[in-house]
Amino acid sequence: MSKLWGGRFTKETNKLVEEYTASISYDQKLAFEDIEGSIAHVTMLGECGIIPKEDADTIQKGLQTIAEKIQAGQVEFLVEHEDIHMNIEKMLIDEIGPVGGKLHTGRSRNDQVATDMHLYVRKVTNEMIELITKVQEALVEQAKQNVDTIMPGYTHLQRAQPILFAHHLLAYFWMLERDKERFSDSIKRTNWLPLGAGALAGTTFPIDRERTSELLAFSTVYPNSLDAVSDRDFVLEFLANASILMTHISRLSEEMIIWSSQEFQFIELDDSFCTGSSIMPQKKNPDVPELLRGKTGRVYGNLIGLLTVLKGLPLAYNKDMQEDKEGIFDTVNTLDGALKLLAPMIATMTVKQENMYNAVSNDYSNATDIADYLVTKGLPFREAHAIIGQIVLYGIQQQKYLLQLSIDEYKTFSPLFEEDIYAVLEPKHVVEARNSIGGTGHQQVLKQLELAEEKLENVLLDQA
Ligand code: ARG
Repeated sequence: MSKLWGGRFTKETNKLVEEYTASISYDQKLAFEDIEGSIAHVTMLGECGIIPKEDADTIQKGLQTIAEKIQAGQVEFLVEHEDIHMNIEKMLIDEIGPVGGKLHTGRSRNDQVATDMHLYVRKVTNEMIELITKVQEALVEQAKQNVDTIMPGYTHLQRAQPILFAHHLLAYFWMLERDKERFSDSIKRTNWLPLGAGALAGTTFPIDRERTSELLAFSTVYPNSLDAVSDRDFVLEFLANASILMTHISRLSEEMIIWSSQEFQFIELDDSFCTGSSIMPQKKNPDVPELLRGKTGRVYGNLIGLLTVLKGLPLAYNKDMQEDKEGIFDTVNTLDGALKLLAPMIATMTVKQENMYNAVSNDYSNATDIADYLVTKGLPFREAHAIIGQIVLYGIQQQKYLLQLSIDEYKTFSPLFEEDIYAVLEPKHVVEARNSIGGTGHQQVLKQLELAEEKLENVLLDQA
């Protein structure tokens, strides 16, 4: 029997079963986390006198050698050893002899795999935070170059009120800031150590879980061994945070697609981020934002997939839980690609400021400001709103925008109108006037930019 657990069996495993139950084809991604966890575990075993110190040292060196060999691509992972844990244990025994068999003292694959996943999720969470920061930096840069760029702001995808393009871009900055906060907050819970829970009930050996936790830089150990081996909340949380992040990326992508269409012509994506059509030579397709939008589906799918895997499981470990891996690997891969493309795509897009301004000058998006004008002259807002409705209708019938109506025409709607109405209706003034906190007024947007840059600096400080 070549299996590490073969003693109780009288027959070889069916080949199809072996292949079906094996996870080595994908969980080899966890090789370094597995070795890191094992080194901490064996160090603790040695320190506690559970195995002789020399044995612990030998095992540790053996594990390091294996890590080097994996790094150098010199090892072959075998399906017959099922998963990364048993592949490495087998390699260890081959490397240093039977003493390698002492590594698994006082632990089980159940607390081992959970620990590997914690280490992995912690690592990729930090990677995501860094990648999100790069996108935020690109947004801030574009925003800085567009603090005077006026564009139509929309609700219901109908022109609503003019805004600054910088303001629109910064909206995404804050979405990403919350994404980062969510990822960063989740590390608190990822930092619980399962190792030492054994298969489900703890262990008879006098282990020191606090010490292992310290060696692996976790903040605490799971207080309940059943929970320790059954919990995948931290994976779910990562997938949920990733899903919200992808929602934001998808919305921004959708806007870039719309803005770069012939109908809008607000931006042009750099040639290096677009692709052509095999039949229509004139086409320049926004494939990248389209794929970012499309790949959002698989990220949601991975979240729903794992939620569904876990929902009916009795305590403690069940083999179903092996299904926690491919989904998160795929999500990490998808986010990694998305964030790495998004930052330079934002940085290299051309903003067609004139087209944006023309759009604002040829619509009724300054209508609210006439209402506000009458309100400052003492009219209740509701009455003002009704009057402006009539003016807009009149304008549409006369094919004139609000700046093109004469003062006599205005006066037929209300005696309160005077020459100063024209200054109020200029798009620049319309934007400037929205000077409430968080508004699109120039002053407010500059303040927002400052706040955003402070946030970016703080992240750098945290990492230092
Ligand atoms: N490959 C397994 C997984 O990913 C490791 C844990 C196996 N434990 C067990 N009792 N079969 O979940």
